[in-house]
Amino acid sequence: MRTVSKRALIKMIGLSAMSVAVLTACGKKEEAAAPAPAPAAAAPAAGKLKIGYVYVSPIGDGGWTFQHELGRKAIQEKFGDKIETSMVESVPESADAERVMRDMAGQGNKLIFATSFGYQEFVQKVAGDLKDVNFEHATGYKTADNVAVYDTKTFEGAYLAGIVAGAMTKTRTVGVVASVPIPEVVRNINSFVLGAQSIDPSIKAKVVWVNEWFAPPKESEAATSLINGGVDVMYQNTNSPAVLKTAEERGVRAFGKDGDMSAFAPKAHLGSAVIDWTPYYTKVVEDKLAGKWQTGNFWWGVKEGAIDLKKIADDVPQEIKDKVAKARDGMKDGSFAVWTGPIKDNTGKELLAAGAKADDAFLRGINFYVNGIEGTVPGAK
Ligand code: GUN
Repeated sequence: MRTVSKRALIKMIGLSAMSVAVLTACGKKEEAAAPAPAPAAAAPAAGKLKIGYVYVSPIGDGGWTFQHELGRKAIQEKFGDKIETSMVESVPESADAERVMRDMAGQGNKLIFATSFGYQEFVQKVAGDLKDVNFEHATGYKTADNVAVYDTKTFEGAYLAGIVAGAMTKTRTVGVVASVPIPEVVRNINSFVLGAQSIDPSIKAKVVWVNEWFAPPKESEAATSLINGGVDVMYQNTNSPAVLKTAEERGVRAFGKDGDMSAFAPKAHLGSAVIDWTPYYTKVVEDKLAGKWQTGNFWWGVKEGAIDLKKIADDVPQEIKDKVAKARDGMKDGSFAVWTGPIKDNTGKELLAAGAKADDAFLRGINFYVNGIEGTVPGAK
């Protein structure tokens, strides 16, 4: 197991001090200088499968990247000296990502996990040149012979959190601090609100976009503006515990997302929608070691143990915990789907008729707000 320090990164890939600053300024979208020529490839450790992880934000101690890191550590532990994993954190979704992936391949990595949506074009470009490396792109939709995409049904976790939110809001107004406006995030916002409305259909919701995955001060400001607007229970699709911390300071309630964030806000925390990437990472490494890696589009949810609402707060009534358990069981055995009609958008247009279940194509294209959410999705017609 190997982690890469900033200094080692400078040496390895010839970054200037300025581009390292760009590299470490997580979430920033600036284009970096043209990639430096790749250094000579280091010889891979004999017999070991080398695996690289590219992270968009710092690992931190909770959240999206932290959960990927737990998955990386879990496979390192499980496969022992059959594999050697490494990671680079805080890699912006820019030409820096391309440079880091080319360098990983140059270092002998034959399996590369690119763990943020915005890496998509860079994965495609590098994978097109390096056919002997297999790429796994989290949350993307473009595959190739050597590129698979994978995701977690985070919207199922958002719905379970919504059930709790619907019971705990006193203002009947819930809110979401949203990151980057892509269908995944819009789907999560809507699913959270649908969960809340399963308790009280009159619940309203507000959304504030920060347009970044990881930007704690902005996340905090967005949370503050939601609270000032009457929101008393918040969800977020950003990567840090800033929303929960703000909730704690302001005496309202919020959820952790991606990782268990309960420790950051003991009073505010209502539950954490926790992703577990380990089952998927284990499968991929097993396939690769067995020479059976193949491309595909994998989307695992509650049923596969990839997501769940954990650590529900003690003051949530038992009747509501039972409703969460019932929905979770339904997701597991297939008897319940979050996106079952009737579902209308916030202009009153019916998008799913009563009893109709959304298919994956519908789910992957969601770019509207459901009834009860204020405003419009950025960029939607
Ligand atoms: N990169 C960092 N966080 C996320 C996330 O929640 N979803 C996607 N698609 N990419 C991310």
